[in-house]
This record gives sequence, C-alpha cells and structure tokens, in this order.
Amino acid sequence: MMNHFLDIHTTDADALAGIIANAREMKDARAGRPKGQPDDALPLEGRMVALIFEKPSTRTRVSFDVGVRQMGGETMVLSGADLQLGHGETIADTARVLSRYVDLIMIRTFDESVLQEMAEFADVPVINGLTDRTHPCQIMADVMTYEEHRGPIKGKKVVWAGDGNNVCASFLHAAGQFGFDMVFTGPVQLEPEAEFVGLARKAGVNVSIERDAKKAVAGADLVVTDTWVSMHDSQSSKERRHNMLRPYQVNEELMRHAKTDALFMHCLPAHREEEVTSAVMDGPSSVVFDEAENRLHAQKAIMRWCLGV
Ligand code: CP
Ligand code: NVA
Repeated sequence: MMNHFLDIHTTDADALAGIIANAREMKDARAGRPKGQPDDALPLEGRMVALIFEKPSTRTRVSFDVGVRQMGGETMVLSGADLQLGHGETIADTARVLSRYVDLIMIRTFDESVLQEMAEFADVPVINGLTDRTHPCQIMADVMTYEEHRGPIKGKKVVWAGDGNNVCASFLHAAGQFGFDMVFTGPVQLEPEAEFVGLARKAGVNVSIERDAKKAVAGADLVVTDTWVSMHDSQSSKERRHNMLRPYQVNEELMRHAKTDALFMHCLPAHREEEVTSAVMDGPSSVVFDEAENRLHAQKAIMRWCLGV
C-alpha cells in the first residue's frame, strides 16, 4: 500500500500522531541553526519531488520547496498551465509519466477528483496541497501549532467562524482523528459539508452549528477563520458572500467571549479588516505566523512518512 497523504480522515490516526511528533523533533533539532542550513540527516538525498500548482500559493510552494532541500532532496516546481495536463493530457497519463521521473508528487488543484486520479495512477506517493474541498497539510501544521502553545488538542473546543470551506473541512477531519470538539458559526448557506460533520460525529466528537458568533465562541480554546472568498469561488459571488459573512468577523470584541487564553488561527493569506481585524491578527492570541512556519516542519514529516524514510 502506497502512503499517499490525501486527507486527514483517510490517514491512520497513529500515523498522524507520528507525523506531528516527527515534525516537532525536526523543528527542535534545527532550533538555532541558520536558515537554509541542511539537516545533518538528509533523508531525501537523491530524491526528486514534483510540486504542481494549478492555483497560486506562497506558503505551500515555499515551505515544500525549502523542506525538501533541507532534507537533501531536489524539487521541481511546475505550474499546471505549463504542463500538457493543462492542454488535454489525462491526469492518469501525467501520473504514470511523472512516476518515471520523480519520487514524490505534491499537487494543488481545483476538483479533488484530479488529486484522486493522480494518486490512483501514480507509482509514487501523492500529497494533497489543497483542493476545493480540503487542505490537510495546513491542519497538520495547525494541530502542531496548537499543541506547541497549549499542549494536547484532545478534548479542546475549536470554533470555526465564517465560511465552512476546504480548510474548515480538514479541521473537521482532524477533530475526529485528534479528538477535539468543533463549533461552526457562519451563515446557513456556507455551512461545512454535512458528510464531514457526520464523519466527525461518528468518530465520537461533538460538532455543533451555532448561528450566533458570540454564543459559539463562549469557552473556546481556539478560534479559527479563513478568507471569505476562496480561490475556487467566483469573484462575482464576492459581494453576496461578504454580506452574509460580515457578522462572523473575528475581532477583539468576539475574542473577548472566548477563554482568556484562547488562541487565534488563520491559514493565511488573510484579508485584514474583512474576516479578521489587524488587532486580532497582530494581537496576543494570534499564532498565525507559527502556523505558517509549522507548514515547513509538518510537511517535512509528511514527506518522510510518504517515502518511509
Ligand atoms: N495557507 C496556504 O496554503 O497558503 P498558500 O496559498 O500561500 O500556499
Ligand atoms: N480557503 C482558501 C485557503 C487558501 C490557503 C482557498 O482555498 O483559497
């Protein structure tokens, strides 16, 4: 069985815990080193990693590229539009061909069927670098970040405010796997997929929907939000979405309803003064740049797990 990293709910819970522990070890081992200096251990030496982007990216692109290099491997960053993939070659054939050249494929795409087909036909592991539906690497970094600051996330209350989007979906998957409760607060039209809510509940955690943001946030250990218009959303829906989502902005007033030591997370990029105010983003609860850093460490551990190195 190939170790693809496609989603949090489809990855074994012990493997997920092992990935976070390994990420932590590698982060600690690098502490104090000049940036860019390779690790002593180079588990990816001689390995080539293809990073395919069909959507823009800053964090995913740079953190994967740097992570591979720190572990002694090499990368090839490919834009979907430049590949024959963007001009009619099938995903299956692209997967078969790339597997003859590279040891690992990370892909950021639109429809998750592209990711699934890539994984089905590739002879090398495939990593989900975001689809319209999920963003698992982000939430591995987020769980790592929470635990770094506050200890085990198990049993904690996480509140997602705003759009029940792809990042929210992976948070719900993580709730089931890591054992934390979730409250979604946002408009009825933008609730997370019922299937994912059901999965988390089936895993034994509490998931509730609360229309009133202040009530939702009461007693929260962690408040999370994301952009109101994702890369896969049409620009023409922007105004309608903003109007629906405005009551769910994360601001200091809302954060006052959470626990006094509650953390604030955002996967970034943020639209300051829209889904979150600068006062919260730059305030004492915010760990947004730790999340961004931890993408690097978490993904290094994900790649090692995929390759078994
Ligand atoms: N959070 C995240 O995935 O950021 P990028 O879109 O910059 O990769
Ligand atoms: N929900 C956002 C996340 C970006 C990292 C999007 O899909 O655009």
